[in-house]
Amino acid sequence: MVKDLTSTPLPRIIQGGMGIAISSWRLARAVANRGQMGVVSGTAIDRVVACRLQEGDRDGSIRQAAESFPDKNLAQRVIDRWFKADGLEKPGAYKPVPMFSINPPKALLELATFASFCEVWLAKHKASGPVGINLLEKIQAPTLPILYGALLAGVDAVLMGAGIPRDVPALMDQLCQHEACSLKLNVENGDDVQLPFDPKIVETNGAQIERPKFLAIISSHVLAMSLARSGGVDGFIVEGPIAGGHNAGPRGWKVESNEDPVYGPKDEANLDRIKALNLPFWLAGGQDDASSLANAEALGASGIQVGTAFAFCSDSGMENTVRRRAIAYAVADQLKTRTEGRGSPTGYPFKTLDLLGTEGGRDAAERERQPCLHGYLRTAYQKEDGKIGWRCAAEPEADYLKKGGDAEDCSGRRCLCNGLLATAGFPHSMKSGGLEYPLVTSGIMRDLPRFLNGKSDYDANDVIDLLLGGEQGLHDQRVAKVVAC
Ligand SMILES: Cc1cc2nc3c(=O)[nH]c(=O)nc-3n(C[C@H](O)[C@H](O)[C@H](O)COP(=O)(O)O)c2cc1C
Repeated sequence: MVKDLTSTPLPRIIQGGMGIAISSWRLARAVANRGQMGVVSGTAIDRVVACRLQEGDRDGSIRQAAESFPDKNLAQRVIDRWFKADGLEKPGAYKPVPMFSINPPKALLELATFASFCEVWLAKHKASGPVGINLLEKIQAPTLPILYGALLAGVDAVLMGAGIPRDVPALMDQLCQHEACSLKLNVENGDDVQLPFDPKIVETNGAQIERPKFLAIISSHVLAMSLARSGGVDGFIVEGPIAGGHNAGPRGWKVESNEDPVYGPKDEANLDRIKALNLPFWLAGGQDDASSLANAEALGASGIQVGTAFAFCSDSGMENTVRRRAIAYAVADQLKTRTEGRGSPTGYPFKTLDLLGTEGGRDAAERERQPCLHGYLRTAYQKEDGKIGWRCAAEPEADYLKKGGDAEDCSGRRCLCNGLLATAGFPHSMKSGGLEYPLVTSGIMRDLPRFLNGKSDYDANDVIDLLLGGEQGLHDQRVAKVVAC
């Protein structure tokens, strides 16, 4: 059964999914409570929930969500494994969560399914509007259990970009029927393999799942047309190059290029071609003025998707000192975002905020590389003995080379997993001592202080008020008050 969103109007505003845990359940719920679409991030949600449990689940939210999980024994197993009533012994001392691989341990599949269930359940709890989950196509190994957990929680939409998510709609259909299925894993220098997932790991008693909408995040009309032909896509987020997070590379730009990408008019998607597909679409990337929504609607869009403005609001999952420092620098007009061509080991350009005290404020070459503790951006490769190995161009170079990687791949790469978890408030201890530095991604900052409207902080409601144009002229006001760091 496909979720019938036709009886309720499509949201005009979608709060963009922002990993890791920046678009947490709290932000998504605040947005959904305004009747717009809140989106939680599914990226690394297994680790995020394991961290929250190890910190003692201070607000009790995970244990509250667990009460609604269909398989009480599974929920209890996860809690027994990760919950620490007294919290961490010292900052950063998290127990390691195994990395996803070809045959992940059952306990990891259980954690991932449970974790995404909790995140979506919490966002939807008592919220009046729809809630979606965002996943990156590029991260393949954890996708099926995370999707399944979200489906069990009744997620209204799955939003996916950073790749070509052609197979995902059909997999969603199978998961809605609790059918075993498998997702293709790309293997460098070898044949792709299938990653199987059997929903029977969760005792659901055949709970009925309504198939959520599938919204593909794309940057070109060519990809939109191709995905529409493949079927199962219910709409598009058309993301432009100033959006936060990962971006598609500009035309002619090469993954191996040492230059940061420069975008031009040819990189804009042709909206007439997208409109002709007769599927709803939302514009993303710098769509955060009081006039953005009306302009997008005039172009035939159903609305806008906004990330950066929500990322720095008080409902966001961003660690508070980092968030407030960013606001303070924005108020002083001293904040720059760079589109790093080589920063992300995915090979996609990645927006990095140049902020003091964070990874983005430093040259990637300056720091001693740390082993990645989480492994989401590792690529699978075929070893000489035919087995599958895993490597990441941001890991210590000697390790990468030992695995047959090319030294050329390594320059400029940053460990996004370690850095983004630190930004969400879960900095892990580094092998070389101390805590991992936060790494902040953001869209090209365009007058963030207008959301403050004279206050020292702002929340999701302030963003929505401005986007809905409820408070005329708000965006023209400048903030007098500098936020304390
Ligand atoms: C902090 C941050 C993290 C993001 N993470 C993701 C992500 O994990 N997946 C994704 O599809 N998009 C991600 N995005 C992009 C947003 O979902 C959204 O499309 C984009 O921010 C819209 O442009 P804007 O930043 O100019 O508002 C991220 C954006 C930000 C600011």
